[in-house]
Amino acid sequence: MRFTSVPLMRWSSGMPEIRVELERMTEGHLSEVLAIEQASFSDPWSEVMFRQELEDDPGKHPVVLTMDSQVIGYGLGWIVLDEFHLGNLAVRPDLKGRGYGSLILERMLKLVKSKGCRTASLEVRASNHTAINLYHKYNFKEIAVRKKYYQDEDALVLLARLDEEKAC
Ligand SMILES: CC(C)(COP(=O)(O)OP(=O)(O)OC[C@H]1O[C@@H](n2cnc3c(N)ncnc32)[C@H](O)[C@@H]1OP(=O)(O)O)[C@@H](O)C(=O)NCCC(=O)NCCS
Repeated sequence: MRFTSVPLMRWSSGMPEIRVELERMTEGHLSEVLAIEQASFSDPWSEVMFRQELEDDPGKHPVVLTMDSQVIGYGLGWIVLDEFHLGNLAVRPDLKGRGYGSLILERMLKLVKSKGCRTASLEVRASNHTAINLYHKYNFKEIAVRKKYYQDEDALVLLARLDEEKAC
């Protein structure tokens, strides 16, 4: 998998363009990814878990969003048959709420759809309203609750049909 596109984000006319790039996550991104992970979650993934995502496997899709070569967000997941499962998604805390999470999610969904995925699924903490709002924007709907999935909290299982027009 290779991303070469360079989306341009302009917050309002007259402001300088912000150039961000989505690319495959590599070992060189790991320290920045881990810093964002630890700042974002009470139960962060370990370095070992991220390293497993970097293995050369056509079903694994770890990406980073960079700005001036600095990692500002990431997402990863797995294709199993015609379903994509989103495993992780985060944006650097000081840059949240500026559309970057949407950008990462949208581009990942487009990519896996182009690879034949018909649905996307994920688990999210029941209290994570920001993330749930984001997923609703991309047509994800609650299909189940996994009790105490996070030990201290239930997970909502969300599913999106990628062949519906609004999905991505
Ligand atoms: C969830 C996360 C990835 C969203 O990324 P983001 O860049 O902040 O999100 P965006 O700016 O693209 O906003 C996307 C949507 O999320 C929702 N949203 C964003 N900020 C929100 C807030 N403070 N409160 C409620 N909803 C919010 C809105 O629906 C927004 O869409 P809109 O701008 O059209 O209204 C980011 O907040 C994050 O890293 N959170 C911590 C890690 C995490 O919880 N990851 C998800 C695990 S399942």
